[in-house]
Amino acid sequence: MDDNLIQVTVIDRDGTENILEVPTDINLSLMEILKASEYEILATCGGMALCATCHVEVVEGLHTLPEASDQELDMLDTLPDADDQSRLACQLHLQNTNNGMKIKIKGALQ
Ligand code: FES
Repeated sequence: MDDNLIQVTVIDRDGTENILEVPTDINLSLMEILKASEYEILATCGGMALCATCHVEVVEGLHTLPEASDQELDMLDTLPDADDQSRLACQLHLQNTNNGMKIKIKGALQ
């Protein structure tokens, strides 16, 4: 496998699981990568941690991610269905150490 390509399992809202190959050497957030892969994510705020429509649950690999910022945590706090595995995909820039991560898309569609 390419040195800067990792695999992330993505569970869609309907439960469908797919493995996504994610490049780690381009400066895109996980939200941008999911949108580019045609997952339905509103991302109304464009990645500013202000809308929470890019909410994902990190099912596996949470410990491989950096801690959430206060702004991200404040935004997650506004969601009724957020828990301690919740993150905002726009705030995540994946690294090679995130290989094998599994996420579930949860962001609202309106
Ligand atoms: S895109 Fe708006 S919070 Fe992530």
